[in-house]
Amino acid sequence: MIKEERILLRNAGKINPMSIEDYIGAGGYRGLEKALGMEPVEVIDELLEAGLRGRGGAGFSTGMKQRFTSESCLRCPQRYVVVNADEGEPGTYKDRVIMEQDPHLYLEGTIIAAHAIRASKGYIYIRGEYQESIDKTRKAVNEAYKKGFLGKNILGSGFDFDIGIKLGAGSYLCGEELTMLESLEGKRGTPRIKPPFPAEKGVFNMPTLVNNVETLANATRILEKGREWYRETGTDTSPGTKIFTISGQVNKPGYYELPLGVSLRQLIELAGGMRGNMQFKAALLGGAAGTFVDASMLDEEMSYDNLRDKGATLGSGAVIVFSREDSITNTLVNCLRFFKHESCGKCIPCRAGTAHLEISARKLKSTANDKQKLLASMIRESELMAATSLCPLGQSPVLPLKSAARYFKDELYGILTE
Ligand SMILES: Cc1cc2nc3c(=O)[nH]c(=O)nc-3n(C[C@H](O)[C@H](O)[C@H](O)COP(=O)(O)O)c2cc1C
Ligand code: SF4
Repeated sequence: MIKEERILLRNAGKINPMSIEDYIGAGGYRGLEKALGMEPVEVIDELLEAGLRGRGGAGFSTGMKQRFTSESCLRCPQRYVVVNADEGEPGTYKDRVIMEQDPHLYLEGTIIAAHAIRASKGYIYIRGEYQESIDKTRKAVNEAYKKGFLGKNILGSGFDFDIGIKLGAGSYLCGEELTMLESLEGKRGTPRIKPPFPAEKGVFNMPTLVNNVETLANATRILEKGREWYRETGTDTSPGTKIFTISGQVNKPGYYELPLGVSLRQLIELAGGMRGNMQFKAALLGGAAGTFVDASMLDEEMSYDNLRDKGATLGSGAVIVFSREDSITNTLVNCLRFFKHESCGKCIPCRAGTAHLEISARKLKSTANDKQKLLASMIRESELMAATSLCPLGQSPVLPLKSAARYFKDELYGILTE
């Protein structure tokens, strides 16, 4: 059976997360020391060559994003780093694990990122419900100031960086980077039109790097141990590990750090296998804005590119497992209700579309005569929404809907009993 490979979580459960001394004793802040001895452009190159991809969901190259941000608007007086710690995707709690068990790990990565793009200010935007993460991050920030890892002339390098903590207020959409920036500015959490991207015009119209907590935790390790070491784990195009959060019908739901490229079957085995005598039927990969897969995908490599090539998503690393007793139709209704609830209502295709899709999904569950026709019209509607909605939330329902239709048509048509 595959074993966990704890690269990011090597300190989890071993050190006191409230103690900077413990963190330093376990090798902490060495990555930052190394980074401060390098030119910013060298730090970016290190992350580029390591092949780090954003762990917030999209898997975009972290080094590329840093390069764009550092090269945009050279005359701007300010550059920002914003840490996306909003973690709202259903089934996802990997950032919470990092924040609760080793908060300095991602704080260190944030300071490294700030040095790379020459930012002197940053914000950590934390999900408001994550009280423990908030408390531990606050403590970590205070201690880092006292030890000279934050503030003026960090470790005598001449580099200054200040950071503040902002709390989310329960909106899933505020995890979307441009919406987050509006919220950070004290405005209502509705998205901005892209482009411009945050790298060009981010918070307060200044170049801004937005990175996920897990991404920044990876950056710390890369600077500490080097790109070659990092590339030894994972696949060629998806190096490193991923913290998967697995829930649903498995014996040991929880978080597991594994090399990218692991299969779904291996992850389920590690999570204690299916509960009782249950048989695997499906998994929802990447949360509500993710894709359903069936047993034919159990042995596929879970890496960004392979899953994308197979029409699936890795997303945030959330994996929700369903047995033959579970209803895909019910789960689809839940996903679509979630999108209706979280739609900000700013644009009509999403405002009306998410509400209509939920009504249609409920009909799929109950009385509709021609379910085949109904499902086809729901897919058309979700495609239209994807093409015309203002932000990625309106582009999301198509993912669970089309993948459910691809693998579980008979059940959705009502041909098979649920
Ligand atoms: C509706 C929506 C919600 C999102 N929620 C989160 C979130 O909670 N955490 C996160 O890191 N990224 C989230 N994202 C992705 C961010 O917009 C952004 O891509 C990410 O923070 C970039 O960081 P990375 O490059 O390190 O992955 C969300 C995107 C959308 C469309
Ligand atoms: S797509 Fe939905 S969430 Fe995004 S702006 Fe339009 S209404 Fe708001």
